[in-house]
Amino acid sequence: MTNRLTNLKTVLWTLVGILGAVTVVRFTRGLGAVTNLSDAAPWGLWIGFDVMSGVALAAGGFVLAATVHIFGLERYRPFVRPAILTAWLGYAAVAVGLLYDLGLPWRIWHPLLHWQHHSVLFEVAMCVMLYLTVLTLEFAPTVLEHPLFSARPFRAALRILKKVTIPLVITGIVLSTLHQSSLGSLFLITPYRLHPLWYSHIIYLLFFVSAVGLGLMMVVLESLLSAYFLDHQVHQRELAGLGKAAAVVLWIYVALRLGDLALRGELGSAVDGSWHGALFVAELGLSAVIPATLLLSRRVRESPIGMGVAAAFTVTGMVFYRLDVSILSFARPQGFSYRPSWEEFAVSIGIVAMFLLIFIFFVERLKVYDDVATRPRTEARPSYDPTTARRLQPGILAAPGRFTAAALAGGALALLFLPLRGPEDVPAPARAARSVEGIRVDRGSGQVHALTFAAAGAQHVLQSGDVRVTVGDGRVWPPGDTTESRLLLMIDGNRNGNLVLFDHEAHKKRLGGDESCATCHHLSMPLDRNSSCADCHRDMYDSTQVFEHDVHVTALDGDEPNSGCGECHRDHAPVKSFETATACSSCHREVATADPIIPAAQERWRPAPGYTEAMHGLCVECHKREVRRHPDEVPSTLAECRTCHDPDRRSQLRLLEPSRTDPLPERVAAGAASGGEEGP
Ligand code: HEC
Ligand code: HEC
Ligand code: HEC
Ligand code: HEC
Ligand code: HEC
Ligand code: HEC
Repeated sequence: MTNRLTNLKTVLWTLVGILGAVTVVRFTRGLGAVTNLSDAAPWGLWIGFDVMSGVALAAGGFVLAATVHIFGLERYRPFVRPAILTAWLGYAAVAVGLLYDLGLPWRIWHPLLHWQHHSVLFEVAMCVMLYLTVLTLEFAPTVLEHPLFSARPFRAALRILKKVTIPLVITGIVLSTLHQSSLGSLFLITPYRLHPLWYSHIIYLLFFVSAVGLGLMMVVLESLLSAYFLDHQVHQRELAGLGKAAAVVLWIYVALRLGDLALRGELGSAVDGSWHGALFVAELGLSAVIPATLLLSRRVRESPIGMGVAAAFTVTGMVFYRLDVSILSFARPQGFSYRPSWEEFAVSIGIVAMFLLIFIFFVERLKVYDDVATRPRTEARPSYDPTTARRLQPGILAAPGRFTAAALAGGALALLFLPLRGPEDVPAPARAARSVEGIRVDRGSGQVHALTFAAAGAQHVLQSGDVRVTVGDGRVWPPGDTTESRLLLMIDGNRNGNLVLFDHEAHKKRLGGDESCATCHHLSMPLDRNSSCADCHRDMYDSTQVFEHDVHVTALDGDEPNSGCGECHRDHAPVKSFETATACSSCHREVATADPIIPAAQERWRPAPGYTEAMHGLCVECHKREVRRHPDEVPSTLAECRTCHDPDRRSQLRLLEPSRTDPLPERVAAGAASGGEEGP
């Protein structure tokens, strides 16, 4: 083993050690603990780098397989096996990266059974899985040639695999073409998010062509690196050929990219001095213009250093292309910027290191590079090798000793900085419901409520789902009668627009009128007849302690400071706690409890559960019971999410409270002004 290789492996093992430590925290503490991902930035570095770039870097596999097996350019055969191995490992790395990124990684196989053929992502998932299988079969012969597999069944398998090479290669090309371009198509639905310099109607074509160019240059880079680290022979003439092909592809890519911008009239924004313009120029220069220009020169093509530089440019630049599209030029709502955490970088780099080690493992043991057999075996090691301490330790332990130490050191170092506690909970205070006007609409699947817009004084047609509401002149369609308009409670504790319309009156009437209150208002603030649930269920998700010591001290103080203490802390109990203090009920009137809220314990003043849980504990439980007990009287959909959560309501609300990203249609504003009525 050369010294260079040992050093490289030591570095790689350290990175893998760091990856190991982050992995433990990622899968025990969750995504929130180690990433800066959020609802506004659900796709971060792991998708941008590991998946988007990983797939593109592996494109050399199908390009070279096609070159040799389909177009018959035999002189490139030495590159096929390394390219297939790279592709195979690249896709395996994509799969591993996805496992880190998916919230429920154990469901990664779901697309296999649950088909969604309208989804581009579904196509990508299927293609990647199928192509990984094809690559496994394409690479299998290299493994089966190893003397370890000399038994008869393996030989038979090898013969069969060699026979089906051509069909496999063709399948591989089809699958690759499909999903290399589909990765671009994923972004077709983001015209308002992706910066115009990157958003394009032909983004799938750009992804495909750039992947071909990148794949070729990746093969070049790889063979130069393995020549450096593993002492393989450099096929300079063939490298020059690959370089020439890559130059053509890269020029086509540049022409497509610029032509598309010119047609869309966006070319100007590349040179307007903005940050995005500079990014674009740097990316296109790095990935294509500079290397393609370099490759025009024969001198460059025939020098390993020249080719290495050109390849490094393309590989870096194209990785940036993928990162630009998925992260850097992707607009997010205000206040939701995304910057990857160091753990995200550690995982991305660690996965690369891990697969490089696997690559080296295969290359050292299998006939991946054709000259491996002709090379003098490395048997002639020095009798004592200080870098590996070989000969001082038992054979197998010698070399790994150093690598294990590197990995452990990396892991330990990472642990020092890793958050061992989960992410801090963000408080989400709940606020009381508001009174709004609404009407009932029939959606075929049952009656639901909709907000009325009679007060909005504007003309606007809202079309969404199967409800169509015309607002402005008070007309509502489908023709529900606005005279039936009623007061509803709009429950939206965290004011995020996910509101639920609740017909307080109708529920009250149904549950027995004035006697019904205690069914739901199971506890109330002192002196209050009925308190808002948000008074006690104060946080959307977290439970809260209702008891406030300070309030009591003040309220019971009397004239003398500290005189009230004895009201609760009698007997000078050594431990002052809920158990030893006077029971709450001895001062606070208990509200009678009827059906749905059944306290879990007799002591009624445990911490109040979060607002959402309180609402679901009341509403959903009763609705379920109603469906069970009176299946003939209530709609069967009563306990389903859509009875209470109607996506249309959210869009209705947005009309009333326009946000910056969703400007109020001009007609609404104009109507409001000319109508002279009070605006929303
Ligand atoms: C009987 C009515 C009802 C049903 C059925 C119901 N919910 Fe809710 N849900 C509510 C109410 C009321 C709230 C509190 C709304 C708020 O404050 O924003 C709520 C809140 C939520 C929230 C938090 C909303 C936010 O703004 O953060 C989620 C998530 C949720 N429900 C999911 C579901 C799901 C999923 C189902 C179906 C399995 C479901 N709910 C069924 C009544 C219901
Ligand atoms: C089906 C359950 C239910 C019944 C029955 C019921 N309520 Fe309510 N009530 C609620 C819910 C849910 C809210 C919303 C409170 C919130 O979000 O804070 C509410 C809110 C209120 C509020 C407004 C509190 C505020 O400050 O916003 C009052 C007042 C009220 N109810 C009084 C009554 C009275 C009086 C009765 C009996 C005649 C009654 N309720 C019956 C569930 C019910
Ligand atoms: C004065 C404070 C207070 C008010 C007001 C209040 N709650 Fe509660 N709630 C509590 C406390 C404390 C608990 C926990 C003790 C218990 O389990 O009964 C609780 C528990 C609950 C539970 C869970 C019961 C269980 O243990 O399974 C539900 C559901 C609930 N409340 C719903 C509501 C709704 C709906 C409202 C408004 C209509 C409301 N609460 C108003 C204090 C309050
Ligand atoms: C309304 C009844 C009540 C009154 C009045 C009251 N306490 Fe308490 N006190 C409690 C309860 C209940 C707890 C347990 C709270 C907990 O565990 O969070 C407590 C806890 C304490 C504790 C332990 C707190 C801790 O953080 O460990 C001290 C000390 C204490 N009270 C002192 C006082 C003093 C001094 C006064 C008078 C100025 C007083 N209390 C008045 C009910 C009361
Ligand atoms: C010695 C009598 C006494 C005991 C015991 C007592 N309280 Fe109170 N509590 C009061 C008085 C007095 C007030 C003030 C009434 C008001 O502000 O309307 C009050 C107010 C409150 C309030 C309203 C606070 C606010 O923000 O306005 C809550 C909630 C409450 N108590 C909960 C509890 C709980 C929970 C316990 C049991 C751990 C408890 N109390 C035990 C006397 C008592
Ligand atoms: C004690 C039982 C009970 C509770 C608690 C309850 N509901 Fe209902 N709810 C019903 C019944 C019964 C119906 C009527 C079904 C019908 O006849 O159409 C209904 C109907 C509805 C409907 C359909 C439209 C309508 O008003 O007819 C909505 C929406 C709804 N409830 C929301 C809620 C929400 C939100 C809560 C909690 C804040 C809640 N319900 C609590 C029993 C309950």
